[in-house]
Amino acid sequence: MDKIEITSKSELDTKLLGKLVSNYLEVGDIVFLNGDLGAGKTKLVEGISEGLESPQTTKSPTFVLIHEYASKIKIYHCDLYRIKNEHEAIDLNIDEKSEDGIVIIEWPEIAKSILPSPSIEMYLSHCDNDNYRKIIIYNYKDMGIDEINKEFNK
Ligand SMILES: Nc1ncnc2c1ncn2[C@@H]1O[C@H](COP(=O)(O)OP(=O)(O)OP(=O)(O)O)[C@@H](O)[C@H]1O
Ligand SMILES: [Mg+2]
Repeated sequence: MDKIEITSKSELDTKLLGKLVSNYLEVGDIVFLNGDLGAGKTKLVEGISEGLESPQTTKSPTFVLIHEYASKIKIYHCDLYRIKNEHEAIDLNIDEKSEDGIVIIEWPEIAKSILPSPSIEMYLSHCDNDNYRKIIIYNYKDMGIDEINKEFNK
């Protein structure tokens, strides 16, 4: 397992990180995004979807639970903030969706007991400076992601 810790100093930094992460994603991957309201989870998804050359705009799927974006690889973007318990996430069929795309999940905690294990898990948190975010990435894939750190700090 790799662990990477990064400080993002702006929204653009966070999007760049998403782009760098996208280089390591392939069909079947599941990405968990943990962190408070406004931590930058959706900005990260924007970066990932730009990295995968999606022509569609990333929307916050809070009300519909899941959005689907066409791109080099299909992206399923879920936000489980509003569900009350894990049963409400069963109908999303995350397992099945991961068979033909990448599934990215904001607020996965509440449904962890019924969700498949993630390939990559990220934790975003606010810092004293309003525009800074600490972002920790855990990579459970075979493929190393060390290059992300180098590229990000270039
Ligand atoms: N370094 C940073 N990285 C990401 N976003 C930042 C940063 N600095 C400031 N911001 C601002 O913080 C907000 C992050 O919003 P975003 O919707 O991505 O958060 P979120 O984690 O998805 O929240 P929610 O849980 O409500 O879905 C945006 O308004 C963005 O401009
Ligand atoms: Mg969000």
